[in-house]
Amino acid sequence: MLAPFRYEEGALLVLDQRRLPSEETWLRCGTVQEVAEAIRSMAVRGAPAIGLAAAYGLVIAARQGVAFEEAAELLLDTRPTAANLRWAIERARGVEATSEGLLELARELEREQLEADRRIAELGAERLEPEDRVLTHCNTGPLATGGYGTAVGVLRVAWEGARLKQVWVDETRPLLQGARLTAWELERAGIPYRLVTDASVGALMERGLVDRVVVGADRIAANGDVANKVGTYPIAVLAARHGVPFYVAAPVSTIDPETAAGDDIPIEERAPDEVVRVLDRAVAPEGADALNVAFDVTPAALVTAIFTEGGVLEAPYERSVAGVLERAGAR
Ligand code: MRU
Repeated sequence: MLAPFRYEEGALLVLDQRRLPSEETWLRCGTVQEVAEAIRSMAVRGAPAIGLAAAYGLVIAARQGVAFEEAAELLLDTRPTAANLRWAIERARGVEATSEGLLELARELEREQLEADRRIAELGAERLEPEDRVLTHCNTGPLATGGYGTAVGVLRVAWEGARLKQVWVDETRPLLQGARLTAWELERAGIPYRLVTDASVGALMERGLVDRVVVGADRIAANGDVANKVGTYPIAVLAARHGVPFYVAAPVSTIDPETAAGDDIPIEERAPDEVVRVLDRAVAPEGADALNVAFDVTPAALVTAIFTEGGVLEAPYERSVAGVLERAGAR
């Protein structure tokens, strides 16, 4: 399985996802500042993976002699939307703040993620049918979780169990996580896929070429509203319009009980440059202004079900979300 990072002798080695698939370059992060920069610059990305990277960042901080709170603040400041980042840091508060104690926790969180991914994948795959052509958005595979993947994990188990015909992968502008990362992961896993531009989704659905949508999440509010990579919300609207089931696959650590509804989710805005340039090449006039909203919120009313390791959640979400948190001991 593809690993987005590995911890070795006091450093986090990060597979630089900005350069995939053309180059497999490993960055060595030997300080917590370097780990924070790898998260901020999206060398490592995907909600669960950045939570795990932050957990290893705390280990490195302890080795450097950086105070826990200082390191936690530095890491929390990198990306505001994903719930898993704060979740991992909160888990770390519960253990002894030594490099040994924090390392044990980071490894434990990694094991838990792998187990959660596997369960999510099994539960999600049960909802798919052999002839399904399933659309996914952004990247939710091993690169994004450090485990088996969430939405991509569902597709993988479905493919292995003959419950999938083909995956539609949209490019996911501006940073092309769909084209560069999901297509690469599916290619390596031998799962049939076709790549489409983000703007094609309406045309595909109108022609009846999409049977289901499965996406990941960066934060799920207590009422079931889902923040995910920008472009998810329009897919959900189109799915509702065309009667296509819209599923979200995410671990319980992505649910934030402190966030009541989607409106309360902080939405990251990134540098305009990511929109103005594609793979380091300008695609707009010099000096063009751009707005780079990194996530959007899909209202719970458009979500058919949420696959978690604690069970499949359905409306009314206030109740099902509270129930899964309670069973997980998170409330
Ligand atoms: O900005 P990114 O690439 O970190 O955004 C990733 C996504 O939106 C994923 O769908 C989400 O983190 C789920 S990853 C299993």
